[in-house]
Amino acid sequence: MGYRFTRDDVGYLGSATGRAALAEVDRLALTAASLLKDLEQVRRVHGDLAAALVETVRLRRRATAKLADAGEWLFTDDALQQATPTAVARHRAARLAGRAVHDLTCSIGAELVELARVCPAVVGSDLDDVRLAIAAHNLGQRWLPVGESDASPARNVLLAKADALRPSSRDTVVIADPARRADGRRTHDPAKLQPPLPDLLAAYRGRDLAVKCAPGLDFDRLDWPGEIEIVSLDGAVREACLWSQGLTEPSVTRRATVLSSTGAGWSITDTEPDDIDERAPGEWIIDPDGAVVRAGLVRHYAAKHGLWQLDPRIAYLTGDAVPEGVRGFRILDRLDYREKPLRAELHRRDCGPLEILTRGVDIDPDALRSRLKLRGSQPHTLVITRIGRTPTVFLCATP
Ligand SMILES: C[S@@+](CC[C@H](N)C(=O)[O-])C[C@H]1O[C@@H](n2cnc3c(N)ncnc32)[C@H](O)[C@@H]1O
Repeated sequence: MGYRFTRDDVGYLGSATGRAALAEVDRLALTAASLLKDLEQVRRVHGDLAAALVETVRLRRRATAKLADAGEWLFTDDALQQATPTAVARHRAARLAGRAVHDLTCSIGAELVELARVCPAVVGSDLDDVRLAIAAHNLGQRWLPVGESDASPARNVLLAKADALRPSSRDTVVIADPARRADGRRTHDPAKLQPPLPDLLAAYRGRDLAVKCAPGLDFDRLDWPGEIEIVSLDGAVREACLWSQGLTEPSVTRRATVLSSTGAGWSITDTEPDDIDERAPGEWIIDPDGAVVRAGLVRHYAAKHGLWQLDPRIAYLTGDAVPEGVRGFRILDRLDYREKPLRAELHRRDCGPLEILTRGVDIDPDALRSRLKLRGSQPHTLVITRIGRTPTVFLCATP
């Protein structure tokens, strides 16, 4: 949960004195081993402000993995955990470019910053006073020359305290990112989000709306008439976003968007063709990105790249070429799933490090790896899946 920042802390940390103190604290290691000693040293100079200073420097260091240009930002621990990564916020903002947008749950402003770059007018609101003060600081930092202490928000962003469930702007697209932790735990129940998703959707019925949700949310319970976009970043599925019909192309109900923190990215939707052949396995196995799988677009992805399925009910794909930027596994051999012959074959190939991918079979990769007792030097990958009802092993070269 971390240190509880107050509005006074935010005022101090954003002032010239606070910034100088932060720069000084940033010279300390602040590692698990040095923290107590470092904190004592900061306390001797800055007294009661020490905890806010040390926590801010530690959060800034953590933030670099998630947020671009956050070196001068302020955070709380929870708010940093909840913040949308820059690459994902930038992608959402790009879809809204040119529109006036109201972020109903703006928190510390990770999405506002990206919206402000491409939208003519942006409103950010939240119920949390401290987060709003932090958002003002974070937005102000980006637009003010280095050295100025005024923390006023960007010119095209208006910040206000408001309850998301009571519409407070007109003629805006609304976006929301309800908090996904109830009682400190993750929840997949839309009604337990804050604000509750069903109430939010009811309050903005008929408006252009985009709502970020957890990717594990039970979409079928929502019966959403617009688009559901599943977004992954650097191979990990990060979120689902509900887009109202006015914000998507006609007939799109599912989209997978695959982003990379290098800035690259692509999307596929359910309006694209999904006709694929049923054929014997090709030269390669391809494990589609989690966003494609979660969005139910495995066949569409296969059709787009000239691939086909190993089995119609399993998400592994196969083909004679690997789409660019994707990890493919070249098939060396195909075996029934029987451990004795499998172990013999792996020993014969001098197999050492073994990556095991499974889908559609009840096999614990770690337990299997230790039973195989491999002592060789050559890395290999096993893809274990079901073809029809038969558990099947594809012995592959590790890419
Ligand atoms: C998951 S965070 C949003 C994070 C934000 N999108 C970002 O990238 O930094 C959810 C926010 O919703 C706010 N919130 C919860 N209930 C609210 C309500 N009824 N009205 C306005 N804000 C609310 C919380 O204070 C919290 O800051």
